[in-house]
Amino acid sequence: MALTDKKIGVLMGGDSAEAEVSLKTGAAILNALVKNRYHAVPLKMSPDIWRVLEKESIEIVFNGLHGKGGEDGKIQGLLESMKIPYTGSGILASALGMDKAASRKIFIYHQIPVPDFYLLRRDQKSRFKTGAVSFPLPWVVKPCHEGSSVGVSIVETGDAITPAMEEAFRHDEEILIEPYIPGREIQVGILEEKALGVIEIKTKRKFYDYTAKYVSGMSDHIFPAPLPKALYGRVMALGLLAHQALGCRGYSRVDFILGKDQQFYLLEVNTLPGMTETSLLPEIARGAGISFEQLVERILSCAI
Ligand SMILES: Nc1ncnc2c1ncn2[C@@H]1O[C@H](COP(=O)(O)OP(=O)(O)O)[C@@H](O)[C@H]1O
Ligand SMILES: [Mg+2]
Repeated sequence: MALTDKKIGVLMGGDSAEAEVSLKTGAAILNALVKNRYHAVPLKMSPDIWRVLEKESIEIVFNGLHGKGGEDGKIQGLLESMKIPYTGSGILASALGMDKAASRKIFIYHQIPVPDFYLLRRDQKSRFKTGAVSFPLPWVVKPCHEGSSVGVSIVETGDAITPAMEEAFRHDEEILIEPYIPGREIQVGILEEKALGVIEIKTKRKFYDYTAKYVSGMSDHIFPAPLPKALYGRVMALGLLAHQALGCRGYSRVDFILGKDQQFYLLEVNTLPGMTETSLLPEIARGAGISFEQLVERILSCAI
């Protein structure tokens, strides 16, 4: 049976901090599928989504979710149990990709440079002493399992540590403290287990925060990233290695900072990157000669 004969459910929304972004991702994916004559329907994520999947006789799920519940292995587990094929990474890779501490331990095993980090659980908060952190300020404080820069702060002075930690703990039970690495924001797009290309982001904001990501005019995207050939090749290889190290499937977007020392520091692998027409992975794909509709179609093909 051809893919065009299958009933595809495009999963979107949910209750994560990135639900709003997911609705845009989902709408763009749905639009591309319908344009390409697929039998696709929107599915709003809900606690009883299994009932909807059954009632609607969904045969394939295109996962347009972001963040908790959708990108962390949970929905992947449900879909595996229901024997419904789905796009993107499986349970373990999704769970690892969402966990910045667990994934970094794997990246270190594969000798991919990552920022140093200090992991703090909520129950350790009251006993925390800044002296326990082995690297000097400035720091970046962030939730361990979030996305879209939600809860991320740059800390430059001692006074700013407590509010930054409070902000990160609003979103997560575990937070990371890491050295702030000044440098260039570089991201690699992965499709079908190959590196597609490298994009650079230049933002007017202090860092690539939520506003920089989603308010138009706040950031410029430069494709291909203006890097010397050797550096471009190196970050393509590192991006693919990171994708493979977690065991990702189909597609991902890998975030780096290129430090002043000309070293790439891996920040994270996004297993369900933004998929609006102006999102970064679609932009990288377009630069590589792949239209948004083709990109969506190729991601769908990886679900089988
Ligand atoms: N160690 C760091 N040094 C410099 N900037 C950082 C660092 N960590 C995060 N940032 C900034 O914060 C943004 C979001 O961080 P990231 O770890 O990718 O979390 P998220 O999953 O929320 O995107 C990055 O794109 C970058 O601009
Ligand atoms: Mg990121």
